[in-house]
Amino acid sequence: MSLIFAANFKTNHTRKSTAEYLEKFSSFLEGRSEKGYVFPPATALTESVKNVTVGTQNPYPARSGSFTGEIGLDQLEEFECKTVLIGHSERRHVLGETLEQVREKYNFYKEQGYEIFFCIGEPLEVKEEGVDAVMGYIADQVEGIDLNYDKLVIAYEPVWAIGTGKSATAEDIADIHTRIKKLSDKPLLYGGSVKVANINEIAKIDNVDGVLVGTASWNVDDFCKMIEEA
Ligand code: PGA
Repeated sequence: MSLIFAANFKTNHTRKSTAEYLEKFSSFLEGRSEKGYVFPPATALTESVKNVTVGTQNPYPARSGSFTGEIGLDQLEEFECKTVLIGHSERRHVLGETLEQVREKYNFYKEQGYEIFFCIGEPLEVKEEGVDAVMGYIADQVEGIDLNYDKLVIAYEPVWAIGTGKSATAEDIADIHTRIKKLSDKPLLYGGSVKVANINEIAKIDNVDGVLVGTASWNVDDFCKMIEEA
């Protein structure tokens, strides 16, 4: 299976810089086997381009309505956007999305036939309790989530590794990914401080089908370099 490389722009990039990024990324991927995804901020949402699928970081589970600051199905369809990121740790832990809200989003976009990148992962205090606690935490996150959905991509992103520069160790990733694969055979990405310096090691780990990258993806040349290194 070809590796998936997904760039999460978070609150970075503009319409102009996203367009430039996509142009470069698309031509870089020409003739290569990797699958490219970009999740720009909502203001820079645009149609997918050759070799690169564009998705949204945070869809609201409604077609339209009175949900100030949110975007729904009508807005996504305008860009023929069929891919969504749901349950990112910043949505959960910084913006306060509950398990219930995440589940509602998942089920809504599943009903709509969307490709869903579903993020799971534990905070530091849970990791420190050991692997059973980690898997218990993940079990709560996937409760009510159809893990057999054919358009599901799972991203395991330990919260303590996101944006900190401190990735999980290869042993930790291998262990948790093997356990998650027993819950679902869908593509499983690792995320959390993936960068040029560690991609080679991470891409080689069993049950790692790709990566979801924040910080180190924001510069397109770095992201392409990462793909070359992997
Ligand atoms: P990071 O973010 O690569 O900056 O750690 C990953 C993510 O949030 O998906």
